Amino acid sequence: MRVAKPGVSTAEADLSVSLSGEALAARAGESVAAALVAAGRYGCRTTRSGAARGVFCGMGVCAECAVTIDGVGGRLACLEKVRPGMSIEPDPPARRFAASAAAAGAAAAGAAGAAGPDEKAPLLEEEVRCEVLVVGAGPAGLAAAVAARRAGAGVVVVDERSGAGGQYFKQPAFAVEEEALDRQYRSGRQLIAAALASGARLVSGVRVWGQDGPGTLLGAAPDRRYVFRAEALVISSGAFERAVPFPGWTLPGVMTTGAAQTLLRSYLVAAGRRVLVSGNGPLNIQVAAELVAAGVEVVAVAELARLYHPGNARFLAQMALTGQRQLLDGSRYLATLRRAGVQVLGGHAVVEVAGDGRAQVATLAPIGPDGRALQRGKRRVEVDAVCLGFGFVPSSELARSLGCVADLDERSGALVVRRDRAGRTSVPGVLVAGDGGRIGGAEVARASGTLAGIAAAEVARRRAGRRTPGRPGSRERLTLAAGRRRAELQLRRDEAFQGALWGLFAAPRLVEQLAEAGTIVCRCEEVTLSELERAAEPWLAAAGPLKRATRAGMGKCQGRYCSPVVTALAARRAGVAAGRLSGFMPQAPFLPVPVGAIAEAAPAPMQTTSPVEGRTFPER
Ligand SMILES: Cc1cc2nc3c(=O)[nH]c(=O)nc-3n(C[C@H](O)[C@H](O)[C@H](O)COP(=O)(O)OP(=O)(O)OC[C@H]3O[C@@H](n4cnc5c(N)ncnc54)[C@H](O)[C@@H]3O)c2cc1C
Ligand code: FES
Repeated sequence: MRVAKPGVSTAEADLSVSLSGEALAARAGESVAAALVAAGRYGCRTTRSGAARGVFCGMGVCAECAVTIDGVGGRLACLEKVRPGMSIEPDPPARRFAASAAAAGAAAAGAAGAAGPDEKAPLLEEEVRCEVLVVGAGPAGLAAAVAARRAGAGVVVVDERSGAGGQYFKQPAFAVEEEALDRQYRSGRQLIAAALASGARLVSGVRVWGQDGPGTLLGAAPDRRYVFRAEALVISSGAFERAVPFPGWTLPGVMTTGAAQTLLRSYLVAAGRRVLVSGNGPLNIQVAAELVAAGVEVVAVAELARLYHPGNARFLAQMALTGQRQLLDGSRYLATLRRAGVQVLGGHAVVEVAGDGRAQVATLAPIGPDGRALQRGKRRVEVDAVCLGFGFVPSSELARSLGCVADLDERSGALVVRRDRAGRTSVPGVLVAGDGGRIGGAEVARASGTLAGIAAAEVARRRAGRRTPGRPGSRERLTLAAGRRRAELQLRRDEAFQGALWGLFAAPRLVEQLAEAGTIVCRCEEVTLSELERAAEPWLAAAGPLKRATRAGMGKCQGRYCSPVVTALAARRAGVAAGRLSGFMPQAPFLPVPVGAIAEAAPAPMQTTSPVEGRTFPER
């Protein structure tokens, strides 16, 4: 369903693509995923068992939206833009073993996911040298670039997306009327403009997929491969959504709240006409309100936390002290939902989605303190889309592969890279900022990006044997010091706000409590909970062996979605706390890239330090 948004052009669909031979109207600038969802066509790839899968993450991580475009398989519909006359087919099941060399080549290209316009054309090569390399052009990366430039460093920012802004500041794909845009769009435009005006070079549409030590990163674009060489590295790779498996969560039409928001904010496409939003956290409420404002029927918001608990007054008071504007935004979203008669069901979650090849009926249930569904109070609602937002997991693969020490965060169950206030990790010259380090929202990301940018510029300067620009007491130095102080204060305030916010949204942490024996846990390899439980022998005692025994985590998403469940099962069977196990080790390529991009590049063997104290082991 196409919708309108203030300030964004709502021109009619102006080009035609074909889906399995049937003409489909599309808008220049939109993604293939947006064109499919706008037409109510949710199915993309077919799994080995014959099940249909559709857009899930909306950000190039899950590979569930793989389609065959103009004869080339494994293209990700959420990243690929429509072109006139484009032919789209659902992707057939991936082959595990190819029978001939030719088939092997085709399968490998498909498995790699993103691909170039002509697989046979040799890829161009580009080496990019800079003082500070920033990976990720979200709020953290852009702020880091601006700060590092101000501190006198030569900066390159690389991002896999076609435009800068990351998740929070993602921009509309169509013409805009600047003044009529909402504040989130406008602040993003200002930050992007500041980064460009600073003289930083922005390299878009390039995925960093590997490394050859902290100073050398490997990247891939559809038509070329990159080698980035830098004195200092700021990793601001953001986060992806945490998965909670339950029966029917793999059906087309069930997607993350972030995916629904990207469809809405970037492409003016609603996830569906009747949408259920379920999960934990403020983004669900924001997206539900934005859907309502766009004319979508939101059947309910099932929020795991009990927001209206009297004990929450202290969190609201802290939020009012530290983030009045965000608190007001939140109240406005809730008021929008109230006016539209949308219930926010505290202590509830979606526990099942059913339908004939796509989401049609969802079951909601109250959730007990142990995270299990209660039988009393279940209700069924008709839907055509379900949005899931159970919080975020930092994209820490690159940092961990470089050997940065990471710890398991007990509250979120995610690995977080150990770093100081400026983002310096255990590896000299490698800094981490924003949600890629610890989930803290866009404001924390921005402030931590500024501090990391300043610190990275210092590292680069030291390594190049250059002096700090300006004389002691000069305007240049005073401005730099003031910028650092402002960012430190901002970071403290924003972190305090986030602490109170997550106090308000405190809820049982869901891992596998909603899954049944036959529920798929690993979406890529279709491994069920019972298969994992059968394989989880106490002596395996780690996620890695369980992965090798079942193939869970071996698919294109690299275990990003099943890792918490697999790790929790392994820990439970081994009788150790989940925090003692490190989950899956990051493997290059971190994200799907064309096979040609990696064929001749040789990334270094990786060193990862696990949360098991002091134990470092090479990757396998
Ligand atoms: C799908 C999604 C939607 C969200 N929507 C909202 C929202 O509406 N409101 C809100 O308050 N918060 C939202 N969040 C959380 C919010 O994104 C963050 O708090 C904020 O954007 C973090 O900023 P960041 O710079 O750390 O990361 P991001 O904004 O995520 O930016 C990271 C960037 O790095 C790029 N990147 C990652 N890995 C690589 C790589 N290997 N190679 C090249 N590029 C790479 C990504 O494509 C991305 O552009 C969302 C998060 C997600 C995942
Ligand atoms: S929806 Fe495209 S990769 Fe996940």
